Amino acid sequence: MSFSSIQRFTVSVSQRVRRSCEFLGKWLARNPQRKAWFYAPENITTPAEKYRQVNEDYFADLHAQERMLADHQRMDFYHEAIRRKIKAGDRVIDLGTGTGILAAFASRQGAEQVYAVDHSSIIEHAKMLAAENGIENVDFEDVHSSKLYLDEEVDVILHEQIGDFLFDEAMVPNVCDLRDRFLKPGGLILPSQFELFCEPITMNDDRREPYIWELTDVHGFDFSSMEESRPENAEYHGLVSCDLGVVKHFMGKPEPIIEVDLHTITESTLPLTITFKRKVINAGILDGLVIYMKAKVDEDLVLSSSPLDPKRAPHWGYRILRLDQHEAKVGDEMEITLAVKDWADPETWRWSCGVWDAEQLEE
Ligand SMILES: C[S@@+](CC[C@H](N)C(=O)[O-])C[C@H]1O[C@@H](n2cnc3c(N)ncnc32)[C@H](O)[C@@H]1O
Repeated sequence: MSFSSIQRFTVSVSQRVRRSCEFLGKWLARNPQRKAWFYAPENITTPAEKYRQVNEDYFADLHAQERMLADHQRMDFYHEAIRRKIKAGDRVIDLGTGTGILAAFASRQGAEQVYAVDHSSIIEHAKMLAAENGIENVDFEDVHSSKLYLDEEVDVILHEQIGDFLFDEAMVPNVCDLRDRFLKPGGLILPSQFELFCEPITMNDDRREPYIWELTDVHGFDFSSMEESRPENAEYHGLVSCDLGVVKHFMGKPEPIIEVDLHTITESTLPLTITFKRKVINAGILDGLVIYMKAKVDEDLVLSSSPLDPKRAPHWGYRILRLDQHEAKVGDEMEITLAVKDWADPETWRWSCGVWDAEQLEE
């Protein structure tokens, strides 16, 4: 082989390598979910980091996004909140933009600049949808919000980081971080007011799923000895449901157990143990405690996941914290304790409920 042919061979190989790299780069830009094949994974250790990975993967799925977009109560709430609160000229961060829908609403409402942030590959679709819909003043930032850097402060932080159990999508740390770094003094977090509820319930008779040891007569078969095998894990005791046929009524008058304003809250201000009472106003079998949330923008603009609210936003689930069945009558008093290690992780929640007989209370 002559020297010039070695040269020709080297040039040809390097050209092919360069073209292949270009092709691969373009392909990765179109298929960002494949990036993991080429980059070493980050060292994920803490529960927060693990959750971050779960969240990133979950929201890359189109079904997760379409469930949210199809939830009319949710979409109407956000559309109206943006219409009422975002002013012409506002500079806005949309934390967790997903398909970019809230950023698009803000842009259409007259926001001057929107920074739309998402760590999931869904953001590639958001960019495309914005371009197709003629939205030009939205900058898409494909990073986790903790890695967002801007050289200006903003008037509004817009977000939908609401988990089934309110705090389980890391709303508080994510919003507080952006608030402390980028929100102008007097700026707006939308939405900012949240309530968490934990209400004793009676289930509908045909939908009740008692503990196995409470089944004493399945066509003459008694399971009560199974109580010896009562599981310890919280997963077993906390049922997740979207099914509205399960809850018959609240036994007491619902009151929030936690009220949060994201303008002022810090993670450490959330109490880890809450004890509260409910007077029974609807008699029945105490089956468990239902967890749900409300988000409020104005008195007449509220988003709810209550299983008994006909206007509940349907895509949110609610959780039932199971209790041993107890027949309670009007006037009885219930004292409930909910203790958590981490509000973001329902597996760390523990609960109990004592019931006092109305007649004994009168003595
Ligand atoms: C509940 S979805 C809301 C999507 C969109 N805003 C909407 O209302 O349809 C939350 C989105 O936030 C993204 N996300 C969650 N935490 C994030 C974070 N800390 N930084 C960037 N994106 C985040 C998820 O990938 C997901 O797309």
